[in-house]
Formats: sequence, structure tokens, C-alpha cells
Amino acid sequence: MRIFSGIQPTGSLHIGNYFGAIKQWVDLQDKNDCLFCIVDLHAITSPYEIKEFESKVLEKAIVYLSAGINPEKAIMFVQSKVKEHTELCWLLNSITPLGELQRMTQYKEKSLKQKKKECAGLLNYPILMAADILLYNTDIVPVGEDQKQHVELARDIAKRFNHLFGETFTLPQAQLPKQGARIMSISNPKEKMSKSGAPENYISLFDSPKDIRKKIKSAVTDTEKTIKYNKTKKPGISNLLTIYSLLSDKKIRDIEDEMKDKSYKEFKESLAELIVLKLEPFRKKREELLSREVYVREILKKGEEKASVIAQSKINEVKNKMGLYS
Ligand code: AMP
Ligand code: TRP
Repeated sequence: MRIFSGIQPTGSLHIGNYFGAIKQWVDLQDKNDCLFCIVDLHAITSPYEIKEFESKVLEKAIVYLSAGINPEKAIMFVQSKVKEHTELCWLLNSITPLGELQRMTQYKEKSLKQKKKECAGLLNYPILMAADILLYNTDIVPVGEDQKQHVELARDIAKRFNHLFGETFTLPQAQLPKQGARIMSISNPKEKMSKSGAPENYISLFDSPKDIRKKIKSAVTDTEKTIKYNKTKKPGISNLLTIYSLLSDKKIRDIEDEMKDKSYKEFKESLAELIVLKLEPFRKKREELLSREVYVREILKKGEEKASVIAQSKINEVKNKMGLYS
């Protein structure tokens, strides 16, 4: 199977990104043909720091490697280095109804945040994402829940293209993890954990033990005393139980049993220690890679070359099908 997924370079990668996306990538890379992209062209549709941008891209490559992506098995590359992504995006623009873009949840949320002063790129964002996916004849797109709607749109665009110009694109499908597809913010468990929000809302994969303990200690819960999973009535505790379950590979019911005589404070303390322990290998690997920029750049270069071969052949096929001048 061909697998494609991507993450934007801006913001800190948090445990939501890990459980929603990267953990699935690591599991998929052994038996599939995988491409993992750092989607810098998506990131520029929201305000960003120009001076820091390139180092953020490199940092994300380090994050992918620290989290277990194996460059011998998967292709890792930077989106803007393979120009066929933007080229296909333009071609797909011509067959994507405006109304479909305007109804996208992420667009509505982000444009509100940008006080309706958003650029056209924010609206067209899902077309670029469709181009990323379709360019490689992708079967499966491993993502968190918030990206499901965008993958469905990519599938609709592929269907429309195939109908208008003849069979060209594979129809992609989103793959969400069974648990962890939507990790909630620890400071406001009614919203999803988000890297563009305040640092108290997420646990970064590379937070120091001190920060992890502090953030979990002040995680928002409820006024009751029982450690029980109930997503609507007890969203805070339920989110913490989900995180505990994902990190310990234990069932939520078993954790509830184990914790039944414990206070919220004690539960939080054991969760914080579990997070510190489980994230330690990521921190170590990252520190080792931070001083190896040349090596990381080489991996991205090789990835770019491999991705370009696939992308060039696909874009030629698409332009032919559309009847463009050859
Ligand atoms: P982003 O942070 O928007 O670049 O998202 C990168 C990947 O992480 C996408 O596959 C998202 O669906 C996933 N993701 C982002 N936030 C969460 C979250 N709170 N819980 C689970 N998955 C998430
Ligand atoms: N839009 C995705 C996000 O914000 C990132 C992304 C861009 C992506 N292109 C993609 C994810 C292609 C999967 C496949 O998280």
C-alpha cells in the first residue's frame, strides 16, 4: 500500500500529534511504501516567523527521526522542494467547487481566529493537501480526526477528476487510530490539544520532566473525586485516562480499577511519571540529532529525489489527461 502523510513545521509537536499521526506512521513503515512530508507550504497560510522558518523545518525532520521514522524504510522530504505539489494544486483548483472549501471546519475555525482577514491560501489549503496525497497514488492517509474531512475532500476531488478526464488517481482513504485520534487540551479539555495554542494546553514530545510534572499537576479536571471515564461529564479525567492508556498499553477499565482508591492528585502524579519515562527516549534521540544537521539535510535531500521521480511522472500524466500543450 502507498501511504502519505504530513505535518506542518510550525509549533511544537505534542502527544496528540504523536498518537493521532506519527505513531501510526512508525507502525506502517515496515510493511508499506511510505512518504512522510514536512508541509511547509501549508504552514505559510497562517502568520509565521520568517527568520525561524527554515530551522523549524529541520527541527521537524529531527522530530520525525526521534519519534521512530526510519529513513531507510520511508521517504522523508520537504513539500516545497518538490514543485509538482504546487503545480498539481493549481490544476485541481480548476475542478474544486468553492462551496466545498467554504464548508471545511478547519477553514471556518482558522478564519475566525485570523478575524476573517485570512489569505486565499487558507481557503485553498485542502486543495494543496489533496495534491500532496493524489500525486503519489496514495491508498492510505494516517491522520488524526481533525484531518478526516480534508482527506474525504481529496477523495472527492480524485473522483471528480477521474470522471472528467479518465481514470488517473487512486482514491485515498483516511486511517485514524482506534484510540487517540483526538487528544484534548489539558488546560481546556473541551478543545483539542493544539500546537498553535498556549504551551499549557499541550505536552510536547520534548518537554522537560519538570514541565511535564507542572503541566499535568495543573491539568483541568472536575470537582468530583472518582477516576472514571465519561467523555461528556468528565472530559478532563477522561482525556488523562486516554493518555495513560495509550502510554501504558493498559485498558482504561483496568486503569480505573487500579486507581479506584487514589485521589486525582495521586493519579496525576503517576501519569506525570509515566509520561516522563515514556518520552525520555524521544528527548535523548533528539539531543543526539541536534548536532547532526548535515546528516539530517542529506536524508531530506535523498527523500526529495525519490519523491520527485514519482511526482514528475504523475504530473505529466495529469497534464496529458487534461489536454494541456505538450
Ligand atoms: P498539525 O498539528 O495540524 O500539523 O497536525 C498533524 C497531525 O496530527 C495530523 O494528522 C492531525 O490530525 C494530528 N493531530 C493534531 N492535533 C491532534 C490531537 N489533538 N489529537 C490527535 N491527533 C492530532
Ligand atoms: N493539513 C494537515 C494538518 O494540518 C497536514 C497535511 C498537509 C497533510 N498535507 C497532508 C496530512 C497530506 C496528510 C496528508 O495536519
